[in-house]
Amino acid sequence: MQQATRIAPSILSADFAKLGAEVEAIDKAGADYIHIDVMDGHFVPNITIGPDVVKALRPHSKKPFDVHLMVSPVDPYIEAFAEAGADILTVHPEAGAHTHRTIQLIKSLGRKAGLALNPATPVAAVEHLFDDIDLILVMSVNPGFGGQKFISSQLDKIRDLRARIDASGRTVDLEVDGGINNETAPRAIEAGADLLVAGTATFAGGPDAYAVNILRLRGGSTQQ
Ligand code: DX5
Ligand code: ZN
Repeated sequence: MQQATRIAPSILSADFAKLGAEVEAIDKAGADYIHIDVMDGHFVPNITIGPDVVKALRPHSKKPFDVHLMVSPVDPYIEAFAEAGADILTVHPEAGAHTHRTIQLIKSLGRKAGLALNPATPVAAVEHLFDDIDLILVMSVNPGFGGQKFISSQLDKIRDLRARIDASGRTVDLEVDGGINNETAPRAIEAGADLLVAGTATFAGGPDAYAVNILRLRGGSTQQ
């Protein structure tokens, strides 16, 4: 069943010079999850955040840390991110030879497991993993950078996944990540997404704007 829309601000668009304060500000502004993009300069052409930063941020929010690992190989880093305070660990099937084993590893550490599908990755490639995961992340941009344009062809994938999740009867978050703004958010929600990652759109305008930004993405109306 599609759950109420939740917003996971990606701190990739935050001010890295004051990340702790930024996490506190988006938490207070109504973020549901804190989305943390981990990039290794190998799986994707950018380098961002390691486990020590996640650990340093942990005391700044009680909201679930939704850690998106764009790292290959990924298995050697799972434990470090789990110990650093990740609640959800999301991996790409291309990031290791045995994704089922990676998912089992995440679960064995008592964390929730997510699976991220690149725009070119078909649903059929990960069907065998569906019974074991807590979250599916549909990439609506090519992973690596914030501020890219939403790839509309991914809406059909969201629809397909929504139907499969509903048929399974399980509670699985259907997350969409990349190019989410006030125009694309309603389209993703209409297609079946219930968890929206947003970096650029959340952090636009600085801390005073975060609450309104999040409310708008959620579909709420504002006076402005
Ligand atoms: C891209 C990341 C996204 C990205 C979203 O590889 O996974 O989380 O930061 O940024 P926006 O919302 O700016 O597209
Ligand atoms: Zn992400």
